[in-house]
Amino acid sequence: MLRSFRKAETMKTQVLFLFVLSLLCGAISQQIQYSIPEELAKGSRVGNLAKDLRLSVKELPARKLRISAEDFFNVSTESGDLLVNGRIDREKICGRKSECALEFEMVTENPMNIFHVIVAIQDINDNAPWFIAKGIDLEICESALPGVKFPLDSAQDADVKSNSLKIYTINPNDYFSLSTKESPDGSKYPELLLEKPLDREQQNYHHLTLTAVDGGDPPLSGTTQIRIQVTDANDNAPVFSQDTYRVSLQENVSRGTSVLQVMATDQDEGINAEITYAFLNAPTSTSLLFILNPNTGEITTNGTLDFEETSIYTLGIEAKDGGVHTAHCNVHIEIVDENDNAPEVTFVSLSSQIPEDSDLGTVIALIKVRDQDSGQNGLVTCYIQEEVPFKLESTSKNYYKLVIDGALDREHRAEYNVTITATDKGKPPLSSSTSVTLHIGDVNDNAPVFHQASYVVHVAENNPPGASIAQVSASDPDLGPNGHVSYSIVASDLEPRALSSYVSVSAQSGVLFAQRAFDHEQLRAFELTLQARDHGSPALSANVSLRVLVGDRNDNAPRVLYPALGPDGSALFDTVPRAAQPGYLVTKVVAVDADSGHNAWLSYHVLQASEPGLFSLGLRTGEVRTARALGDRDAARQRLLVAVRDGGQPPLSATATLLLVFADSLQEALPDLSDRPEPSDPQAELQFYLVVALALMSVLFLLAVILMIALRLRRSFPAVWSCFKPGLGSKSGPRVSCNYEGTLPYSYNLCVASHSANTKFNFHNVAPETGPPKDLLDEDPSMDVCASNEDSQIAYDSSFPYHVSFCRLT
Ligand SMILES: *[C@@H]1O[C@H](CO)[C@@H](O)[C@H](O)[C@H]1NC(C)=O
Ligand SMILES: *[C@@H]1O[C@H](CO)[C@@H](O)[C@H](O)[C@H]1NC(C)=O
Ligand SMILES: *[C@@H]1O[C@H](CO)[C@@H](O)[C@H](O)[C@H]1NC(C)=O
Ligand SMILES: *[C@@H]1O[C@H](CO)[C@@H](O)[C@H](O)[C@H]1NC(C)=O
Ligand SMILES: *[C@@H]1O[C@H](CO)[C@@H](O)[C@H](O)[C@H]1NC(C)=O
Repeated sequence: MLRSFRKAETMKTQVLFLFVLSLLCGAISQQIQYSIPEELAKGSRVGNLAKDLRLSVKELPARKLRISAEDFFNVSTESGDLLVNGRIDREKICGRKSECALEFEMVTENPMNIFHVIVAIQDINDNAPWFIAKGIDLEICESALPGVKFPLDSAQDADVKSNSLKIYTINPNDYFSLSTKESPDGSKYPELLLEKPLDREQQNYHHLTLTAVDGGDPPLSGTTQIRIQVTDANDNAPVFSQDTYRVSLQENVSRGTSVLQVMATDQDEGINAEITYAFLNAPTSTSLLFILNPNTGEITTNGTLDFEETSIYTLGIEAKDGGVHTAHCNVHIEIVDENDNAPEVTFVSLSSQIPEDSDLGTVIALIKVRDQDSGQNGLVTCYIQEEVPFKLESTSKNYYKLVIDGALDREHRAEYNVTITATDKGKPPLSSSTSVTLHIGDVNDNAPVFHQASYVVHVAENNPPGASIAQVSASDPDLGPNGHVSYSIVASDLEPRALSSYVSVSAQSGVLFAQRAFDHEQLRAFELTLQARDHGSPALSANVSLRVLVGDRNDNAPRVLYPALGPDGSALFDTVPRAAQPGYLVTKVVAVDADSGHNAWLSYHVLQASEPGLFSLGLRTGEVRTARALGDRDAARQRLLVAVRDGGQPPLSATATLLLVFADSLQEALPDLSDRPEPSDPQAELQFYLVVALALMSVLFLLAVILMIALRLRRSFPAVWSCFKPGLGSKSGPRVSCNYEGTLPYSYNLCVASHSANTKFNFHNVAPETGPPKDLLDEDPSMDVCASNEDSQIAYDSSFPYHVSFCRLT
């Protein structure tokens, strides 16, 4: 009320002033001014024109007042009041002009006059502020610092001056404040101020209501929404779902198996939340074994795992977001053992050769078994597959001794293949085996063995010297030198010094060589002891006896012993009684043959007889008997030429002449004989005596020399002397004799053992079915041998087989 009164007062003053002015300037134009607020109701009174123009109310109709601004005003003809005739909107009429007035003319008639009327229109607060945009969208990065200002669009207010926009406000919130700023053109705009750091992760949208208030009374306001989107800043590091991942994995998983997936999250968004994974500082071998998918974080195997190599893997993994933030975690991969390793058998030491005489329990080899698996999978037992004389002994964990568990014999079996199998206790168990060939070393434990228990060799006499006569062989199953046999003669019944002149043996081949031509008549048999000796150390040997039987050949012609020539070379004669009956044994032709058997089987034949048919000759006996009584016409002296033939092939023979005289006494016979003596050749007789004298001298000289040597020897070697004691030509019986017949022709050395006196040997291969008498065949070399029949015996001294020392006629 007070204000409107004051307004009226000022209006009155203005009207007054105008009036005075019009008086001064004439009546042509008078200005009348009014001032009204806008938006007055129609018919509202603005002012009384009549009174202000000093017109009387009575004359008003006559004056016919008219105004030009009929849209807004009209004039009351009765009272002269200026009335509002339409809506007066200051904002419409004047816009944003701060001063607004409507000017128009009023015309009066009678007299005609024109008046200028100015109606100033006062602003009223009839417009609220308003924002052009329905809402304001802002994006503020969460990393924006407090104090950052964001100028906003200003609001519009049609009113002016005090009614115009005065202040902006926002609803109370924690983050923003608002201040009202004035731009150089005077308009006001709101400015948003960030009071506190934003966190997108906490609140990514903020809704604010911006209110613009004008200065009217009452004030009007307009609002709009501010939508603030908090944009992401990479302010969050990725975070793993676990600090440490633990997983266990069978060691036999195939390549490419997924192990686990690590997961990191980032509260940021967009590229800031894009996480890539990578191994962190992993050793190259490990990082090759596992593949990390950089995008998904999945870990897969890239290769075969081996518990025995590495039982636990620790992988460091880094997660990195799109910015600079990283996070770390550890992955422990525990490998679970599978029985994937077979046990291994290795020989720590091994004797290459095992001597066959090794004791039981001797350690041959040290064996180590190893299984890389753990637990039951790595528990190993060992055994030998074959039936062999060896066994395994466990010494300490994983070590075994291979020891001898039975007798070894290289000759029986020289090598053993031993297969050692190791099996673990896994499920299923795995096993492996190792074979080794054990060689049994040779020891000289076998003596050579001759292939025959004894040897008998028949050699025909007169063999060529140097001929091989026999071969002995012995085998030795040992190896090398231990089985290499050489032969030698170690003993014989021959005179030791003469042995080498009889036989020799090849050490290598065992072939026996005759060193000379044997003579059956001299040596019928001899025995050798041969030795086979190996080259071991110590050497082993075996003996075998070898008997050499010298076979007979018909190399000796029969020798007629009787009748012999007389000492003067004349033939002896036998006397036959004249009255001898037929069958009377006159004499006997005695012959010997140094050969034996058939070769010594003599037969007697009459070659020539003075009186054939008078005498008969025993074919075998050589006995000369009368075949008939002596007739008168028969000559007293008879002559028989007898041939003695042996049974050899071809036969050899000798002849003898028998002189038979029929006489009743020797005296009677003598004359017959005396007329027959042949005159001896005196030249020959002289020669004979010369030879005898020379021989006698030589013998004497020899005797003297021998005597001297004998005396010397007796002093130094009494024992040797004793051997000579029996003297030359002494008869030796079946007892042991050891005679060296150095002076005799056909001298040889003979040693005969007395115990062999009864040993008989048979010439079974020599004896024919119809052979000589049995007693001829059964010969004992050590006994005196006589070519015998019932009547006569010829005794041989065994020492002098060639020399008939004694012959007795029965
Ligand atoms: C003014 O106008 C109003 C309405 O338009 C009317 O009723 C009134 O009679 C007018 N007054 C005069 C004096 O013409
Ligand atoms: C791993 O070994 C177990 C038994 O040892 C077997 O059952 C399984 O099939 C094996 N897995 C692979 C992938 O070979
Ligand atoms: C996978 O293993 C192979 C050979 O074992 C190797 O060449 C390769 O680089 C490995 N891959 C990765 C991603 O480590
Ligand atoms: C042992 O094995 C070797 C080679 O495998 C073979 O030649 C030999 O005959 C075997 N010996 C025995 C006694 O089985
Ligand atoms: C073999 O004979 C020799 C000589 O008689 C003798 O020394 C040796 O002991 C004999 N050896 C055997 C094995 O009989």
